[in-house]
Amino acid sequence: MAEIVTDGHMVPDYKLVPHEGFNLISGIHSPEEVEQIQNWKIRESDIFVVTYPKSGTIWLQQILSLIEVKGDATAINDQLTSERIPWIEVMGNEEKFDSAPSPRIRVTHLQYKFMPLGLKKKKGKVIYVARNPKDVLVSYFHFHKYATMLETLASIKDTFFEKFMEGNVYGNCWFEHIKTWHSHKDEINFLYVTYEDMIKDLGSVVEKISLFLGKTLTPQQVNKVVEHSTFKNMKDNPWANYKMIPSSLLNQQHGTFLRKGTIGDWKNYFTVAQNERFDRLYQQKMKDVPLSFIWDMS
Ligand code: A3P
Repeated sequence: MAEIVTDGHMVPDYKLVPHEGFNLISGIHSPEEVEQIQNWKIRESDIFVVTYPKSGTIWLQQILSLIEVKGDATAINDQLTSERIPWIEVMGNEEKFDSAPSPRIRVTHLQYKFMPLGLKKKKGKVIYVARNPKDVLVSYFHFHKYATMLETLASIKDTFFEKFMEGNVYGNCWFEHIKTWHSHKDEINFLYVTYEDMIKDLGSVVEKISLFLGKTLTPQQVNKVVEHSTFKNMKDNPWANYKMIPSSLLNQQHGTFLRKGTIGDWKNYFTVAQNERFDRLYQQKMKDVPLSFIWDMS
């Protein structure tokens, strides 16, 4: 694939490529391989974390890694969380999936329609992590500034806000993502958790996830999982903060993956008019969906 120079580095010329109504990123995803995911043979013990981008995927990668080892961080601090719990949609990952030992824990931003059909036979488990979409938008804007594979946009005010509202980003429309996944929740083994609940009471969410996965952790082990999954500890942990991801993917001079980690940062960016417009769209799109979000810390 063609390469271009960005900040003195040669990087692939990544592009968003629509595939069956979902944007893939050339050089990272292959439409043919994504098409095959439906046929992947899954096992009872498989776990898929599903997120719209910027909803706390990395946080779940860390939490699930720690739950597996009952909170013993020394057992996981030898491999990047993104290698321990890789993406299903990234090119070349099918073979690794096939041969990996159980339990296979994976993450994805894909829409429901692309997922292994075996899930519908109630094989494997899905944990869907949702975050209030205003904070997703702000986090995603900052991510675009340093994610080499995504277009850099000058301002949130108009360009990125519009792109997000149109679903013209990787992950496409936030509303469609959450609505379609949620509408299939009874057909698959499904747990829904929110970023905001994790901010408010991480211990309870860790217990809920452990229960869903059939893991019994003592209160001390839950505390250890929480301790090693706090924003501060992850930010300082090179295995969990994505600082080692190469500049062909993330230009670390222009941003930090563990950026702010709060609820309500959108208030620092949205204009009153944007907020009103967002609220109108939210009411319209979510009117029949029995979900609600925490929008700020108060
Ligand atoms: P912000 O940009 O708002 O800080 P993803 O992994 O899906 O891309 O999500 C990244 C977002 O999750 C970032 O949001 C990041 O800071 C936040 N995040 C990751 N780990 C976190 C943690 N331990 N506590 C709070 N937020 C966390």
